[in-house]
Amino acid sequence: MMRLDVLTIFPEYLEPLNVSLVGKARARGQLNVHVHDLRQWTYDRHNTVDGTPYGGGPGMVMKTDPWGDALDSVLSEGYETGSHGPVLVVPTPSGRPFDQELAVELSERPWLVFTPARYEGIDRRVIDEYATRMPVYEVSIGDYVLAGGEAAVLVVTEAVARLLPGVLGNAESHRDDSFAPGAMANLLEGPVYTKPPQWRGRGIPDVLLSGHHGKIARWRRDEALKRTTANRPDLIERCDPAAFDKKDREM
Ligand code: ADE
Repeated sequence: MMRLDVLTIFPEYLEPLNVSLVGKARARGQLNVHVHDLRQWTYDRHNTVDGTPYGGGPGMVMKTDPWGDALDSVLSEGYETGSHGPVLVVPTPSGRPFDQELAVELSERPWLVFTPARYEGIDRRVIDEYATRMPVYEVSIGDYVLAGGEAAVLVVTEAVARLLPGVLGNAESHRDDSFAPGAMANLLEGPVYTKPPQWRGRGIPDVLLSGHHGKIARWRRDEALKRTTANRPDLIERCDPAAFDKKDREM
């Protein structure tokens, strides 16, 4: 079973981990989640977790000691319960862009320890120290700045959890995901429809009612190409040209 630990000064921010897909995976025993209040590892009256930055500048920096003590404690707890192979996941806008490939990589690890920071980030020595003991992934969920890394933990956890064996009802549901490997690699998924067949004068594309699986697959790929060209021309550049035929290039 995969183990997840989250160290945060806002444990309540992680409440959504009790809901929906991740919540069900926990209830079914497919995911073992521990959320810890970082302030447990502060010993002063004000439960201080931050300090002013060396060298000056705006904002505050998260202090070494609470993180170091918290990580030592959580990691030793895991060793006692037989969890092994921890990796540290540090959400930061200066990290490696999170994508489906990284989600797959993380889903293959037995134990993820997340350290979402508030303020201007964590004193660098903490990351350097734990990088000597375990793999560290500094991860960004996009080119924008959040007030803290907790929302990024929710994003990464959801993307990873749905890849764990048995978590999605239908094992084939991954196959046509946008970004999934295979024929749809680097293509965005096209439109989808369900009953009723008519809604406010709008019908369903005929091909989807044809029962012709070859034509349906072809149509889905064409729609994916159109959507990707419109919304993510950068992804088209990265596609394997061999995956396209002459007709695709004329679109
Ligand atoms: N913390 C603040 N902004 C972030 C981002 N874009 N990704 C991950 N963690 C963050």
